[in-house]
Amino acid sequence: MKRNIKSLLKFFLLSAVTVVFTVLVFRIFKSKQYPQHSIFDNRINGQEPLAPEDAILLVDNEKIDWQDYEQIKTDSLRKGPGEQGKPAFLSSSETKNYDKLYKVNGFNAALSDKIALDRAVPDIRHPGCKDKKYLKNLPTVSVIVPFHNEHWTTLLRTATSVVKRSPPHLLKEVILVDDFSTKEFSKKPLDDYLAANLSKVRAIHLPERSGLIRARLAGAREATADVLIFLDSHTEANINWLPPLLEPIAQDYRTCVCPFIDVIQYETFEYRAQDEGARGAFDWEFFYKRLPLLPEDLQHPTEPFKSPVMAGGLFAISRKFFWELDGYDEGLDIWGGEQYELSFKIWQCGGQMYDAPCSRVGHIYRKFAPFPNPGKGDFVGRNYRRVAEVWMDEYAQYLYMRRPHYKNIDPGDLSKQKALRERLHCKPFKWFMENIAFDLPLKYPPIEPGDFGVGEATPELCVDSGFKERDQVVGLSECISDTKKKGEQNFTLTWHKDLRVKGKSLCLDVSDPNDKADVALYPCHGMKGNQYWKYDVEKQWFKHGGNSRCLDCDPGQKRLYVRSCDESSRTQKWRFENVNLTMIADWENIGVQ
Ligand SMILES: *[C@@H]1O[C@H](CO)[C@@H](O)[C@H](O)[C@H]1NC(C)=O
Ligand SMILES: *[C@@H]1O[C@H](CO)[C@@H](O)[C@H](O)[C@H]1NC(C)=O
Ligand SMILES: *[C@@H]1O[C@H](CO)[C@@H](O)[C@H](O)[C@H]1NC(C)=O
Repeated sequence: MKRNIKSLLKFFLLSAVTVVFTVLVFRIFKSKQYPQHSIFDNRINGQEPLAPEDAILLVDNEKIDWQDYEQIKTDSLRKGPGEQGKPAFLSSSETKNYDKLYKVNGFNAALSDKIALDRAVPDIRHPGCKDKKYLKNLPTVSVIVPFHNEHWTTLLRTATSVVKRSPPHLLKEVILVDDFSTKEFSKKPLDDYLAANLSKVRAIHLPERSGLIRARLAGAREATADVLIFLDSHTEANINWLPPLLEPIAQDYRTCVCPFIDVIQYETFEYRAQDEGARGAFDWEFFYKRLPLLPEDLQHPTEPFKSPVMAGGLFAISRKFFWELDGYDEGLDIWGGEQYELSFKIWQCGGQMYDAPCSRVGHIYRKFAPFPNPGKGDFVGRNYRRVAEVWMDEYAQYLYMRRPHYKNIDPGDLSKQKALRERLHCKPFKWFMENIAFDLPLKYPPIEPGDFGVGEATPELCVDSGFKERDQVVGLSECISDTKKKGEQNFTLTWHKDLRVKGKSLCLDVSDPNDKADVALYPCHGMKGNQYWKYDVEKQWFKHGGNSRCLDCDPGQKRLYVRSCDESSRTQKWRFENVNLTMIADWENIGVQ
């Protein structure tokens, strides 16, 4: 009996210890797993699940400095043509192939041949990027580079820079998708070169000309890593480009991240910044546009910021999310509209899109497009119609208002895309416009307001831009309507709140803050500032900028300038013809504020 009690006690004690132990282990394990949206449970499209060692990548939020200081140091010592991103030139004996290569590439390909494939590029990141650490555990990457007849050295420089500036254990592969190039070296010589010199890079050769969109899809189907990064075929990855792209995706797999795109100058191959970033947008003819950063973005210049649409060619997205979205709509032909399709899909179907300022990639913007595209008819219009019909709901009409013939284009079968939208419970376009692209309509109104006024502006003489060009100062002359002389005196106060020479994109611009500052002509930017004018009907003033200066003149010298507004001044009173009083009364609700 005693023994029985003893063993019973023992049993209970053991059980208790086991339970406590199990709970503890379970908790530790749980706390170490990735959050729900792990990209590491990765069974998609019938492809192999990831290797077990990848699938149990544990989260710890440990962050490390990913920068390769040894490489940064060796690179800083490199000398030679184009090194450090400095402009390079051909010597007079090297110009033999200049014209021929320029014509087939749209950039100075002869110079490219002279510049090292692994040249050093300048570190033009925001200084704060150098102090940033990123998660130690980051997903692996397949880089996909479609190309058609890309020049040999610019293509290889793209691949070389990616391999050189990516941590080897993160870069699984680089896939060059040869979209039926006709240049001989795009075939066997390329395969041989890659096999001998760049083991992680391989080329796949498409059997017919497929266009950019289908070539990207073909590359994506081959890719096996966690994250897909699409690049153009004449790009250069800059220092530590990868971790800033990957971290937001590691934190939430439904995230797409774009690098900053720098400019590789087409003539000299100089590498320089484009600007300090902006949010991607579009106007209602589907031209790609940019919106200013938001105040909170400006406060954190090294943090990724939300962007309504991507520029198109360069972005990172988890493979899982890309295929959940069905990749690109396969009904899109060649190119055009695909960046809008994917961007709308990402936002409307539960994802998000960021630009990462600390990741930079240089890109050659060609001087001209050297290849005829293989598209038939208005294939871009057809693509736009598909995107509009599937994703834009009632907003599609604003596109059709400007391009009425889209209404007559047959978009083809949309049932697969519409089913996807249904299946993923994607949000309406109105949600996108009100929450993500909320400031777009102020700059690009779906329906453009009319003008506040148009005509001569005159006290005794008329403002006359005199057929001048940009940067020239504007003066006064006798009014045409009185004298029948020649002049350019018809101005429009547009809904952008600028004064345009009628029929031109030149604006009255004042940049000088001093008294009697000159008024000059400058290309209209529609961003207020130096070009902001408000007409005060009662006082007959043209008020300039944010401060209290008014358009003023010296009729004797026929000079035009701005001065502090003064109620008693006669020279500040301007008769302005054809003012729309209804619109002036509604000033605050129209266009930019
Ligand atoms: C490998 O690269 C070297 C140096 O650029 C080049 O000379 C060689 O031809 C390449 N190998 C192949 C097989 O193309
Ligand atoms: C200025 O433009 C308006 C609107 O088009 C027109 O009605 C007017 O006649 C023009 N005035 C002159 C002087 O050309
Ligand atoms: C003035 O603007 C309003 C609102 O845009 C417009 O409906 C009206 O036709 C305009 N009036 C004139 C005379 O142009």
